[in-house]
Amino acid sequence: MPTPPFPTAWPEGFLWGVSTSSYQIEGAAAEDGRLPSIWDTRCRTAGKVANGDTGDVACDHYHRYAGDVALMRELGIGAYRFSVAWPRVLPRGRGAVNGKGLDFYDRLVDTVLAAGIEPWVCLYHWDLPQALEGLGGWTHRDSAGWFADYAAVVARRCGDRVRHWATFNEFAVFTLFGYAMDWGAPGLRDRDAHLRAIHHVNLAHGAGVDVLRDLVPGASIGAIHNQQPVWPEGETEPNRAAAQWLDEHWNHAFPDPQLRGHYPPRIAEVIEPYVRAGDLARICRPLDWFGLNHYGPIFAKADPSLPWGFGWGSPPADAPRSEIGWPIYPEAFRDLLLDLSRAYRLPVYVTENGAGGDDRPDAAGRVRDPKRVSYLAAHIGSMHDAIAAGADVRGYFVWSVLDNFEWGSGYGPRFGLVHVDFATQARTPKSSYRWYRDLIRAAAAGSR
Ligand code: FCB
Repeated sequence: MPTPPFPTAWPEGFLWGVSTSSYQIEGAAAEDGRLPSIWDTRCRTAGKVANGDTGDVACDHYHRYAGDVALMRELGIGAYRFSVAWPRVLPRGRGAVNGKGLDFYDRLVDTVLAAGIEPWVCLYHWDLPQALEGLGGWTHRDSAGWFADYAAVVARRCGDRVRHWATFNEFAVFTLFGYAMDWGAPGLRDRDAHLRAIHHVNLAHGAGVDVLRDLVPGASIGAIHNQQPVWPEGETEPNRAAAQWLDEHWNHAFPDPQLRGHYPPRIAEVIEPYVRAGDLARICRPLDWFGLNHYGPIFAKADPSLPWGFGWGSPPADAPRSEIGWPIYPEAFRDLLLDLSRAYRLPVYVTENGAGGDDRPDAAGRVRDPKRVSYLAAHIGSMHDAIAAGADVRGYFVWSVLDNFEWGSGYGPRFGLVHVDFATQARTPKSSYRWYRDLIRAAAAGSR
């Protein structure tokens, strides 16, 4: 299969990167003082994760980080986005700081910098300490303060070297899946708990931004949102209504209060009992960039068995799909980048984009992933079109550098540019790794 071409002329300084998250790669779940997170608990709850898989070992990145960073250096990326595991740093969520846990991020940051790569640190990628869940987790209003204290611990330790910070990853995904659909931790289907979680996570974001501004002079701070067009499954009236609801939850419940100072209309009505005077000003803090995670459009359908009456629909039968069945519409990505850049007036960084597959080594031990390469080529091409049409996009991070633990789907879907054999921990760069490396080189040459 011929290698898809890529645009080589990019704006000066355009940043190419890769993203990961703590629970999905680190492993070492009970090492050096780390205590369980809500995802450790979910993995041990029967029927919640495919195969009974857990993040106990994952990619063993906690021990193999130096080799993994070397792979990133050879890839030629300018930035590496990873998350910090709150239960490693503050095993009980608050109170005693675990020095060994913090030391790990210290070593990681130094190693990343020594490789000539900018660390982009995300404070929360879904692994809430289980001890805090015991107190109510995000449904407890104090969670905003717990998060701010945790942010301060990390900022004090790493703020001398880390300039780019994100408060949260995909607010809408972990709150909707965790509190309304039982697709993620902590696994509730409860409208009130969901509304509380939405509001408290928004408050935590605002409090976290304030802490980072105070403790890290010159920090560049953003938040990472999943944004996707939401389309009804078939053009029926109930499914259209479901799509409107899902769109508010998915695309607006977090960016709107954080960047415009108000909730979208339907959510504003129902969330009101949890909102106190002054809250929206606490949530809406100036930010430096908008982090966009995007994979493809999503489909909604009416589902009276779920708390909001809407659920996940299916794409049309003839929709192009990735190997794991996610719909592929690169032109929607172009439109989204233009819309976001106009709507929120912040530079956009694509903090996740990628494709899941079932990649396996061939007889010679090579891993070829042409479908991932075509997906990346199409989306990077659409991003290039969006920039040409005026979108202010400053960087792009592939999800992910390594195959890793894909939440409720366990180790089935592989998203890496590098194949991981989970039995031996052997790393094998795939053809997409070489393709992305060549793109980065060509872009560097082309933008000079
Ligand atoms: C995103 C998550 C990330 C990963 C990718 C495939 O929703 O942020 O952790 O699971 O999907």
